[in-house]
Amino acid sequence: MESSGEFSSHNLKGHALIELESVTSTNMFLQLLLNKGSAEQGLIVKAAFQGEGKGMSKNSWFSEKGKNLLMSMLHYSDALTTQKQFFISKCCAIGVAKAIDRMIGVEMSHIKWPNDVYINSKKVAGILIQSSIKGDNIQYSLLGIGVNINQNQFPLENATSIMLETGQKFELAEFLSYLIEELDASLDKLSEFNYESINNVYYKKLIGYQKWLRYKKDDELFDGRILTIEDDGHLLMEMKNGEKQHFAVKEISLVPAGTNGQPTY
Ligand code: BTN
Repeated sequence: MESSGEFSSHNLKGHALIELESVTSTNMFLQLLLNKGSAEQGLIVKAAFQGEGKGMSKNSWFSEKGKNLLMSMLHYSDALTTQKQFFISKCCAIGVAKAIDRMIGVEMSHIKWPNDVYINSKKVAGILIQSSIKGDNIQYSLLGIGVNINQNQFPLENATSIMLETGQKFELAEFLSYLIEELDASLDKLSEFNYESINNVYYKKLIGYQKWLRYKKDDELFDGRILTIEDDGHLLMEMKNGEKQHFAVKEISLVPAGTNGQPTY
């Protein structure tokens, strides 16, 4: 069974919204609705609990019941080529980061390439984008977003929640409404092909942009500073010896703050 428990369906800020008590994964549920022909542009599936939450690179996404925001939104892109597909990630990361700042009332969030959102050098939100490609274009994407809001313990050392970082408890419904507004605003920029405006915000929030930080590739540590994130998501880094190198997602990892001489970010 894909979902169990209560089910409610209504409209929020122009988006059809399905709220579930429990589901395998909101991305999987949304894909199922789409396959059945019962999902329209902007549909949001939100759940209080996921039994099989999916993260990037086949990782799992764990979240205590009712404490955090777990949602997926269906987004059809207008004439977005696969070469520019990373702009969807950028828009999602910007939307999540801005919604967090708005709720807290202070700019505390940062983006870690490719599309994690951090507060005080720890991960507070993750984004899983699953896109369908038709020819040279992105047809639609499932924007899966998990934001840790009121959970106060995490098994992973670099994970945190908004509550742990601010000492305040927040309303999930209030956050959802900010998130929808900020996601819409940033995805609208993409529909208008306003890449410059998206890049301006993304780079302003990007951890390590034009700043020397320590990274790990295989088992080797090195210092680098981010020069550009290419439209397809590759990162262009300047190395200490002046060389420039491209890296793909997951080829390198940012060393956690406070370990191996890494400062806070
Ligand atoms: C990551 O950082 O690895 C991405 C995590 C994405 C988690 C969200 S929670 C809602 C949606 N449904 C899923 O199964 N995954 C995404």
